[in-house]
Amino acid sequence: MADLLSGKLVRLTAEEPKTLAEAYSRWSHDSEYWRLETSDCARQFSVWGIQKELEKELEKESENNFFFHIRTLADDRLIGNVGLDGVRWQHGESFVGIGLGEREFWGRGYGTDAMRVILRYAFQELNLRRVSLDVFEYNPRAVRSYEKAGFRHEGYARGYLLREGRRWDLIFMGILRQDWLALPTEDR
Ligand SMILES: CC(C)(COP(=O)(O)OP(=O)(O)OC[C@H]1O[C@@H](n2cnc3c(N)ncnc32)[C@H](O)[C@@H]1OP(=O)(O)O)[C@@H](O)C(=O)NCCC(=O)NCCS
Repeated sequence: MADLLSGKLVRLTAEEPKTLAEAYSRWSHDSEYWRLETSDCARQFSVWGIQKELEKELEKESENNFFFHIRTLADDRLIGNVGLDGVRWQHGESFVGIGLGEREFWGRGYGTDAMRVILRYAFQELNLRRVSLDVFEYNPRAVRSYEKAGFRHEGYARGYLLREGRRWDLIFMGILRQDWLALPTEDR
């Protein structure tokens, strides 16, 4: 069997807290990254601050969360994370989140590749029936990446965010197991 957690450009990994704290602290100093990822106010975290947050996150770990980190196959660089956050087994459904903290890797196919790997994991290993996500209107690169991975537009919450003096929609996207199975084999 092929390695379930490797794609064409990246592989999904587990990382030690020390490695993560250093990387997450550095990524938190990039306010653009922060504002693409979350509706929370941009902040900056020290390595120590991140370690505290990670400890809290670890306590929340459960059989319903599948959280991975993303490393490049070419040079083993840690560039981001991706995870199924809150699988609801009775409905065969989960939310997915992704972020490449290393901005030099944006727009080069790495995020889409990682998304394809986690979708394969969701549908082939966990046997889920649906994966959902949401994304801010001002993030067309992410929307396009999700479309390439097979997600469809399902609706939006109008004026969900107030940033830079205007309101922005929250876009909802989803992929069903049958959508995923209908993708060309090389895209899943
Ligand atoms: C979102 C993310 C995971 C996407 O991964 P990626 O590797 O950058 O995506 P890809 O390079 O495979 O695809 C990006 C696509 O968007 C397109 N794109 C880039 N900027 C765009 C823009 N301003 N408008 C429209 N399309 C754009 C690219 O041309 C490409 O499409 P193509 O392959 O058809 O040419 C990654 O960019 C990322 O983590 N960004 C920072 C954090 C973030 O946005 N997280 C998502 C939160 S919902």
